[in-house]
Amino acid sequence: MNAGGAVISMQDVRMVFTSVDGDRFTAVDGLNLEVGSGDIVAIVGKTGCGKSTTFNLLLGLDPPTSGSVTLLGHDPHKEFDYFRSKLGVIFQTDRLLPWRTALENARVGLEILGYGDKEQNDIALEWLHKLELHGFEDAYPHELSGGMRQRVGMARAFCLAPEIFFADEAFGHLDQSTARRLREVFLELVTESKKTCLLITHNIHEALEIGSRLVVLGKPGRVLADMETPTNATRAEMAEFEDRVLDIIENNEVVG
Ligand SMILES: Nc1ncnc2c1ncn2[C@@H]1O[C@H](COP(=O)(O)OP(=O)(O)O)[C@@H](O)[C@H]1O
Ligand SMILES: [Mg+2]
Repeated sequence: MNAGGAVISMQDVRMVFTSVDGDRFTAVDGLNLEVGSGDIVAIVGKTGCGKSTTFNLLLGLDPPTSGSVTLLGHDPHKEFDYFRSKLGVIFQTDRLLPWRTALENARVGLEILGYGDKEQNDIALEWLHKLELHGFEDAYPHELSGGMRQRVGMARAFCLAPEIFFADEAFGHLDQSTARRLREVFLELVTESKKTCLLITHNIHEALEIGSRLVVLGKPGRVLADMETPTNATRAEMAEFEDRVLDIIENNEVVG
């Protein structure tokens, strides 16, 4: 663990993409972020501000152009193997294997980690049931609704008992009521696990529903504001807070 004890740490991170023509495009510029153990943080920002780029940096899929990214005190890009089973990732689309049933999809990570057959099934069934998929264990993805497929994707992540949960626009393609219910279930299970969670979204409602801390990202990727999400707020107070966040996003300036 690093000195501050942060589970997620991004220091002065810059990400510059170079096109085939040699044009340079800065997607993330001077991003600083620290997330403590057990924190549930939502990052919100406009489409194109660099959220997915940030997500990919956190997952170690890309190295930053400059600056440092560490998770649990380790470099997710250089120490990819260290993070096997430590990160639970929920993607925008479910990314299920179409030729596998819900149960077979949910247990895929455990299979890779070499768990025995019975243990794989026991753990995967437990999570499928917690995610309200009783009776659909043997269904194939094409037999499930979008919301159910996303639940299977979540079960797959929870099965690994990861240290950190990452979600990027994980509820974005679902209808509003399905998304809302799924966010409730997700938040409940993450809270219960006491693990750290970073959710990335363009949807402010989603960010406020899940995050107890809200980080507003500007374009190109940098922190404009970092605040506690109001608790026990009235509808009017919440609406006011939301307006403030929308103003910050619109102005795209760092709030002092
Ligand atoms: N591999 C890449 N090469 C060049 N530009 C990219 C690449 N990935 C993302 N970008 C650009 O970086 C910016 C931020 O993209 P992204 O991180 O996907 O934003 P968000 O997830 O917030 O919508 C966009 O302008 C996008 O076009
Ligand atoms: Mg994105």
